[in-house]
This record gives sequence, C-alpha cells and structure tokens, in this order.
Amino acid sequence: MTSPITVKGMSVKFGDKIILDRLSYDFESGKIICLIGPSGSGKSTFIKSIVGMQKLDSGSVEILEVKIPDRKILGQLGYMAQEDALFKELTGKQNLEFFGSLQGIKKMN
Ligand SMILES: Nc1ncnc2c1ncn2[C@@H]1O[C@H](COP(=O)(O)OP(=O)(O)O)[C@@H](O)[C@H]1O
Ligand SMILES: [Mg+2]
Repeated sequence: MTSPITVKGMSVKFGDKIILDRLSYDFESGKIICLIGPSGSGKSTFIKSIVGMQKLDSGSVEILEVKIPDRKILGQLGYMAQEDALFKELTGKQNLEFFGSLQGIKKMN
C-alpha cells in the first residue's frame, strides 16, 4: 500500500545551523508514531515541515500522493501545535467542537 506520508531527503537550516539533515521516512497507514528527542532537537520543525508550515532547504513531502505545500490537502490534515493551540476561554469540549466544526464535524453529544 502507498505510504500516506512520504518524506524524502528533508533538510531545514536556520542560519548556519542544520536542524534536519536529509531525513527520509515513509509513514505507515494506521500506525501511531511517537517522535522522541531532547528539547531543541527538531521535532516541531519536522512536523511543521510535513504539514507545509516550514519551508524546506531541500527534499520533499507528499501527503496522500500530493506534494506539500498544497491547499487541497489541508482539509484532510489535523495539526495541533504545542503552544497557543487552544482558546483558553473555552472548555476542552468546546475547543474540540470548535475545531471539529472547521472540518465539518458535528457537535458531540
Ligand atoms: N523559526 C526559527 N528560527 C530560528 N531557529 C529556530 C526556529 N524554529 C526552531 N529553531 C531552532 O531549531 C532547533 C529545533 O527546534 P524545534 O524544532 O522547536 O525543536 P523541538 O521541537 O525538538 O524542541 C532549535 O535549536 C531551535 O532554537
Ligand atoms: Mg517542539
């Protein structure tokens, strides 16, 4: 089966600092992946690069066989950032309902 997310030769630099150095990875469908590493090792940069929020210095990402960045695929992606991701005025359930509604998901019971 085709990989839902394919990362090929991904490199990201900030100034002279190489954060991601030619990373390649084929994600498998139906698996939960846990990315582990010390603070500052590049986990967030990797995720942002996959979802198209970070410009690559080299390499490519395909999601469902569409080369990223591409607006077409955004509706099929869910990404929750570590910080500033939730509205503090809303409860956890209300946050879920709001972000779900953006994707056309109906209210929870
Ligand atoms: N926008 C940016 N500009 C410059 N340096 C950055 C930027 N984002 C992250 N970095 C640097 O890249 C490295 C990896 O950061 P990050 O991906 O946030 O690591 P992690 O999520 O694993 O803690 C760190 O040294 C961080 O300071
Ligand atoms: Mg991080």
